[in-house]
Amino acid sequence: MKTRITELFGIEHPIIQGGMHFVGFAEMAAAVSNAGGLGIITGLTQGTPEKLSKEIARCREMTDKPFGVNLTFLPSVTPPDYPGFVKAIIDSGVKAVETAGNNPQKWLPPLQEAGIKVIHKCTSVRHSLKAEAIGCDAVSVDGFECGGHPGEDDVPNMILLPRAAEELKIPFVASGGMADGRSLVASLAMGAEGMNMGTRFIATKEAPVHENVKLALVAASELDTRLVMRPLRNTERVLTNAAVERLLEKEKALGANIKFEDVIEEVAGVYPRIMINGEMEAGAWSCGMVAGLIHDIPTVKELIDRIMAEAEQIIRQRLEGFLAA
Ligand SMILES: Cc1cc2nc3c(=O)[nH]c(=O)nc-3n(C[C@H](O)[C@H](O)[C@H](O)COP(=O)(O)O)c2cc1C
Repeated sequence: MKTRITELFGIEHPIIQGGMHFVGFAEMAAAVSNAGGLGIITGLTQGTPEKLSKEIARCREMTDKPFGVNLTFLPSVTPPDYPGFVKAIIDSGVKAVETAGNNPQKWLPPLQEAGIKVIHKCTSVRHSLKAEAIGCDAVSVDGFECGGHPGEDDVPNMILLPRAAEELKIPFVASGGMADGRSLVASLAMGAEGMNMGTRFIATKEAPVHENVKLALVAASELDTRLVMRPLRNTERVLTNAAVERLLEKEKALGANIKFEDVIEEVAGVYPRIMINGEMEAGAWSCGMVAGLIHDIPTVKELIDRIMAEAEQIIRQRLEGFLAA
């Protein structure tokens, strides 16, 4: 399939794997890129620019296809070494960066001068237009369904994507709730040039996470996610568990007086315990409503091939068939 996104990143299929903390290691990114999509290494998970350089080198040993790096700009008292991470990315020769969180404007000139294409993840039309205005090459439009941080506007993709298409000139991919060929065709119909998946890629053979995490996704339904940290204006969609329900009880009890310190036990430092050790009750971890559409644990290539075959079948048979009469 050829779209503005496949052209921009030099990939075969218009499918991107969004950055995921403690999931987006070299194994994940390489598997997606080898299957014809765009795999993304999650920069901050590596902790330091030196470790990120090594992870990029490891990924390059596993694939000769294009892959990218996610850089998430978080509000933080002691910010990560962003200049160091940007330098590591440029020096590595990677040609795609997915930015997320705060405005990436400051980092665009060095990245783009190095020939790197930047796709910024946005949860609103307003932020997407801002990304276009500052010179981003593309946008990942992340609807309310998404795993991770959906923002505070709560606009689902059925509205958000066509609204983005009405306003944007740069290409965008649909993100949040994407799982299969139906998702891809719907995204294209609503004006996107491809799709970005997070949660769906975790339930694959190559995803470098504990088996318990994959089984939890297969077992979960679309009713099993919760929004946490909304009172802190840092809303995150997570899979429910005992820690999440405890966190929500605290939010209810403390109301407007709640502070980050009150929920720190349920959210800080929990990713390695969940993703590496498989301690499923350790805390809150990002997960999309799309869990309801995840019923198996295929290889990444099986998943992507299936998506592309299903998309083609929908376009050529189901949709074309409606016109035939
Ligand atoms: C476990 C997990 C961790 C994530 N970590 C990050 C992250 O560190 N940075 C980021 O920009 N997005 C992160 N995301 C969001 C994904 O990149 C993607 O935008 C989102 O998962 C799309 O929604 P979906 O899960 O419905 O496919 C994460 C998502 C998940 C499920």
